[in-house]
Amino acid sequence: MAIIGAQWGDEGKGKVIDELASHVDFVARYQGGGNAGHRVVHGGEEFAFHLVPSGILHPGVQCVIGNGVVVDPKGLLAEMESLRAIDVDLSRLSISDRAHVVMPYHFLLDRLEDESRGMEKIGTAQRGIGPAYVDKYSRVGIRMADLLDVDQFRAKLASVLEQKNRMITQIYGQPPLSLEEIHTEYVGYAQRLRPHINDTQEMLQQAAAQGKSILLEGAQGSLLDVDFGTYPFVTSSSTVAGSAATGSGLPPRSIDHVLGVYKAYITRVGNGPMPTELFDEDGEQLTRVGHEFGTTTGRRRRCGWFDAVVGRFVSRLNGLDSLAIMKLDVLDSFETIKICTAYRLSDRTLTAPPATPDELAACEPIYEEWPGWMTSTANATTWQDLPDLARRYLRRLEELLEIPLVLVSVGAGRGQTIYLRDLAV
Ligand code: GDP
Ligand code: IMO
Ligand code: MG
Repeated sequence: MAIIGAQWGDEGKGKVIDELASHVDFVARYQGGGNAGHRVVHGGEEFAFHLVPSGILHPGVQCVIGNGVVVDPKGLLAEMESLRAIDVDLSRLSISDRAHVVMPYHFLLDRLEDESRGMEKIGTAQRGIGPAYVDKYSRVGIRMADLLDVDQFRAKLASVLEQKNRMITQIYGQPPLSLEEIHTEYVGYAQRLRPHINDTQEMLQQAAAQGKSILLEGAQGSLLDVDFGTYPFVTSSSTVAGSAATGSGLPPRSIDHVLGVYKAYITRVGNGPMPTELFDEDGEQLTRVGHEFGTTTGRRRRCGWFDAVVGRFVSRLNGLDSLAIMKLDVLDSFETIKICTAYRLSDRTLTAPPATPDELAACEPIYEEWPGWMTSTANATTWQDLPDLARRYLRRLEELLEIPLVLVSVGAGRGQTIYLRDLAV
């Protein structure tokens, strides 16, 4: 089963993965990198995962960082250290030998390039993700397997660094990075990560052949997808369900179910068009009640009403089998709740998002209004516990997205989840 973020990220994927992980054998990340921030409330404590799969807190689960992920070894080791400190067994963590490594020049160039865009700034997470994927596709990337051969690694690094230092010094006027320092630092990381580096695609393929259950943990969201997102205000990986196969090495047909995770409203962190963004007291209330601040960068997330235009675009793009609606509780105190069902663009009515950011920015949302239920849903554990108006709102989302609703979340905690039917994982 693949778990996909169906908006602009931060939908609550981490919570869903942690909940479902108690029933599975494997959890695997397949794209993105340390730009992801997946929060999990487990045993009453809050954890934030950036590279380690969100299933690691379940002792029986094997966790995989797949070939499609770009790995910052320093960040990963720090994450592993903090888990080790609370006695999490990390022998269950494997990293693909084919995963690309995020290098210091990627971090530096991510910042310098985004700053140089001025008004067109993307507002990246500054985790080196874009530049690392650029090198992967330019075929000058360094992979985990390369780190393990000290001499080979040095030769590759020397060649790439010469080119990067030209950019750093001549284009950006910054001091060059040192080959010696990077080499020593990364050889040190490689030694520590060596026991975890494996051919993970084979591991996953065997697990699938043996009928083991595998959760594929998406990062970011489909509206940040490099092809179908709000380009160029997107991330540098493919975030839709299709990439779960290429990023893990599992054949597409072994992905038997795609679960789309949406918030009951919508948020975005970073720049780019967002038709339903609110600039009024309702927007403030969503930010405040939903604690909408980024897990990775601490930035305030932009908030708006549920956008069913991009919502349906995403559900079709991913061929979603089922739907999870998160953070319903955040809407508990709104008298009126709106859903955007179409856009107006000059004299046209659109039911799918246009391709260019300028056109999308010019789209006026057409809303339908729903009466709020004005009562707490935080303690609901069954569908029947939910107020009638909340159920009607959810049924409307289900109808607009054309996908059956299977899970509703009413709080960050474990147990604050309503299952409408069994999710066979
Ligand atoms: P992810 O990137 O998709 O894993 O999402 P994040 O973890 O970045 O952001 C979701 C935030 O909402 C986290 O802080 C979660 O603990 C929290 N959360 C998840 N589900 C719910 C919910 O149903 N209600 C509330 N109030 N918070 C939730
Ligand atoms: P999770 O997995 C929300 C956004 C950044 C920026 C754009 C490009 O927690 O849902 P990048 O660093 O990827 O080059 O930045 O993408 N972004 C996210 N927004 N959640 C995420 O991950 C994100 N990962 C990247 O804010 O707008
Ligand atoms: Mg997040």
